[in-house]
Amino acid sequence: MIITKLNISSVRNIILAAVFPSPTLNFIIGKNASGKTAFLEAIFLLGRIKSFRSSSIKSVINSSYLELVVSAEILQMNGATAHLGVQIDSKNYCCRINNQTTHKKSDFAYALPLQVIHPKSYELLDAAPQLRREFLDWGVFNDNENFLLVWRHYKKCLAHRNSLLKTRSVNQLNVWNNELVNYGTMVNNYRQNYLLKFKPVFIEIVARFLDLNDVELKYLSGWNTDKELDCVFIEDIDKDLRFGFTHSGPHRGDIQIMVAGRLAKDYVSRGQLKLLVMSLKLAQMQLLKNQHSNIGCFLIDDFAAELDVINRAKLLNYLVELECQVFITTTEQSDFGDLTDIKNYKMFHVEHGNIIQV
Ligand SMILES: Nc1ncnc2c1ncn2[C@@H]1O[C@H](COP(=O)(O)OP(=O)(O)OP(=O)(O)O)[C@@H](O)[C@H]1O
Ligand SMILES: [Mg+2]
Repeated sequence: MIITKLNISSVRNIILAAVFPSPTLNFIIGKNASGKTAFLEAIFLLGRIKSFRSSSIKSVINSSYLELVVSAEILQMNGATAHLGVQIDSKNYCCRINNQTTHKKSDFAYALPLQVIHPKSYELLDAAPQLRREFLDWGVFNDNENFLLVWRHYKKCLAHRNSLLKTRSVNQLNVWNNELVNYGTMVNNYRQNYLLKFKPVFIEIVARFLDLNDVELKYLSGWNTDKELDCVFIEDIDKDLRFGFTHSGPHRGDIQIMVAGRLAKDYVSRGQLKLLVMSLKLAQMQLLKNQHSNIGCFLIDDFAAELDVINRAKLLNYLVELECQVFITTTEQSDFGDLTDIKNYKMFHVEHGNIIQV
């Protein structure tokens, strides 16, 4: 998909903007505090109905207004045009696709698959497993449309089982154990199948950007897979009852990057960690294209802060090859290097929340 038209209203310091982006690279330049990240946040809101920067969506609404609105025209892979719109106030959000109201955030995630790289992206490999599970499941979700329903069933069963554990209703646990085993095994299989395809793509991208030998991507199911999940639930029961939650299962799944047999986050430099995270995200987009001919949209904030000169040039070349739509911000145009070989790009200048094509 490609965003052909974007309207932004009351997103941080952007009061009103209408943009006609390039289907390929869009370079966004502006001084500090001009509104570059706000521009990317507006696009992200449309795809994920949340901010990549703040946990409170309220903080994204311009402080002089009560609501924000972002809408876009999207050219889909089948040639059709879709209209996406999101309106958010301090309490509610209203989303529309082709003038139909929907409350399913997943509809937007399918319509506008987004990946974002920003200066804190390295946290993906540095922080708690939750972020990595979300990353993995974004890939599985875009790869197989059946995954979402199975994952929702699993979460529902898990919530029931946890509430029974809290009230120590041991007799009813068996019913939920069976359901949980059933859906949990399916979630695990979807993830494993996805990773089988994902790993070679990721390793190839790593080789382009990093001079590292012996890089490995490991999947942790969330339980000791020497044993069947139903046996694990039975073995864990005392522990689960004592703490009032389910200790093992796909909700504890994780991925790890190992370099020369050691956890990447404890071994590689900060720059290398950022490049590994970037490679993970590029690999998801590449796979989306390979498998479904569907291309998402890449948001890269603070391009220069992330990469050295050589890797910046390599990344731009990669993105041109990938033929996806990209929005990249920086403070100085010179950070983008020589653009003479890049075709069809657009350059935008942001100043005090005004976005002007130059
Ligand atoms: N809710 C809000 N209402 C109004 N202005 C806001 C709001 N939230 C943030 N801002 C302001 O919007 C301005 C633009 O912020 P933004 O993060 O987009 O800047 P930027 O161009 O990315 O800067 P930098 O180069 O430093 O990253 C900042 O001055 C910020 O204080
Ligand atoms: Mg910024």
